[in-house]
Amino acid sequence: MAQPTPETTPYELLGGADALGRIIERFYALMDSEPKFARIRELHPADLAVSAEKLTSFLSGWLGGPNLYMEKFGHPMLRARHLPFPIGVAERDAWLACMRRALEDGGVEPDLRDWLMQQLQGTADWVRNRPE
Ligand code: HEM
Repeated sequence: MAQPTPETTPYELLGGADALGRIIERFYALMDSEPKFARIRELHPADLAVSAEKLTSFLSGWLGGPNLYMEKFGHPMLRARHLPFPIGVAERDAWLACMRRALEDGGVEPDLRDWLMQQLQGTADWVRNRPE
């Protein structure tokens, strides 16, 4: 079953750097084009290339691959870095829905996709800084 074990990292199961890069590219392309993600799109900079590089670098380490975010940008301090943006339940859920679509479009196998979404839910809720 395609779920991580101590021997295989989620990063490897996903297909490594190329696959992760493609998924995050798709994530921001969806955010940029789908009306239902307009609300979270507005919070991001006009040019999403840097956002894509940061998220890809962060997820690389978070999934058990090279710790690229730390090397390039320092400690992630995810909660602190999200404080300037109003993130409530609607923003959290839109972000997660956008990620689910990107994983589906990337052909990530359902077991692995569900496992990843479960892990991401905790982090997405942790960066929430509005009660509703
Ligand atoms: C699992 C959940 C999440 C992860 C792993 C994540 C990761 C990141 C990372 C690594 C950055 C770059 C930080 C920096 O270097 O400045 C970032 C920025 C940002 N995130 Fe998140 N994030 C998550 C959830 C969310 C949610 C729920 C929202 C809601 C809209 C959000 C909105 C933003 C915005 C607006 C920025 C600033 C623009 C940018 O640098 O792209 N994030 N996030």
